[in-house]
Amino acid sequence: MKFKDWLYERFPVRGEELRELTNEPVPNHLKRWWFCLGGTPAYLFVVQIVTGILLAIYYQPTQASAYASVRRITEVETYGWYFRGLHKWGATLMIAAVILHQIRVFFTGAYRKPRELNWIVGMCLLVCTLMLGFTGYCLVYEQLSYWGAKVGANIAETVPAIGPFAKKMLLGGEDYNERTLPRFFILHAAILPVTMMVLLALHILLVRLHGVTEYRFQADPPDQPDHYQFYPDHLYTELAIGLVLMVILSVLATVFPPVLGPPADPLTTPEVIKPEWFFYVAFRWLKLFSGTVAVLSMGFIVAAMFVWPFLDAMIRRRWPNSEASVWIGIVVALTIVALTIWEAFVPH
Ligand code: HEM
Repeated sequence: MKFKDWLYERFPVRGEELRELTNEPVPNHLKRWWFCLGGTPAYLFVVQIVTGILLAIYYQPTQASAYASVRRITEVETYGWYFRGLHKWGATLMIAAVILHQIRVFFTGAYRKPRELNWIVGMCLLVCTLMLGFTGYCLVYEQLSYWGAKVGANIAETVPAIGPFAKKMLLGGEDYNERTLPRFFILHAAILPVTMMVLLALHILLVRLHGVTEYRFQADPPDQPDHYQFYPDHLYTELAIGLVLMVILSVLATVFPPVLGPPADPLTTPEVIKPEWFFYVAFRWLKLFSGTVAVLSMGFIVAAMFVWPFLDAMIRRRWPNSEASVWIGIVVALTIVALTIWEAFVPH
């Protein structure tokens, strides 16, 4: 009996059947790269899981040893600097890719009926991705990781009603203590990735159930067929994008390897506390308005982003031919860019 037949008896799925299952006709517009940006964060998520597992073998989530273990990964362990670099740059590119994918979905109106729920799942993915970035930043236990975590917890505390409880949950006490780093580690390496896997499965399931939104462009030749095959055309395109991303990540990790700042010192507040670039906008907002007003208004904006497909439907019902939604999107995007640049260039 051939091995193939032996295996089929025990695992009764053939390659052709699997191909049939995944081989959906793909709309032609997905040949344009900005329409398949969703595959990029999915690919980078896998890179993060693999490099994250490798880092977790050496990382120690205690105040006494976290910083030294990251130094060991960076300076002593074989290829430690490379995998740390891939993980760090992978996080940056993943956040950028999620944001670009969301911008594409927004400006092509791909969140509209019947895809509203998938937009909400996407928003949950965005929040999880940002939380992964924040908790990862805190794990290194350098000065900015420590003070960043404290500032983050203090901001959480200003949320009315649940604030003090949220801070206590995050830090494992009233202030940063020996239970805090293990908490961040569990969030970063277990709770958030598993939540994201569930959300991603739901996201892709909804994409498969609805199909991606179909578009036709004036530049398309009229005799061009509307669809092409997932296998092999689209799969090979995605694999090629994956290879290019791997090269980009390797170059970034080698040319700009991750460095280590000074170790955490709970007794010395740094002169300038800055989060990672993807929180610049929130940080600047918090500086512009005072305490609770800033946190409440930010909460309001995030809530509006979650329910945006329904707000958009209301706007379109009221003013059927207006471009109001597009203009709102442009104003919000420009404001985010402006606040980010402002925070990046102003020291305080
Ligand atoms: C880890 C994060 C994410 C991953 C891996 C991901 C993945 C994907 C993939 C593979 C698609 C198929 C079409 C495409 O490639 O554009 C897709 C579609 C979609 N995504 Fe995401 N996504 C993520 C985050 C988001 C976010 C933040 C939003 C918005 C808030 C969002 C909303 C949508 C919607 C509405 C569609 C359907 C688009 C259509 O029908 O054309 N996704 N996503």
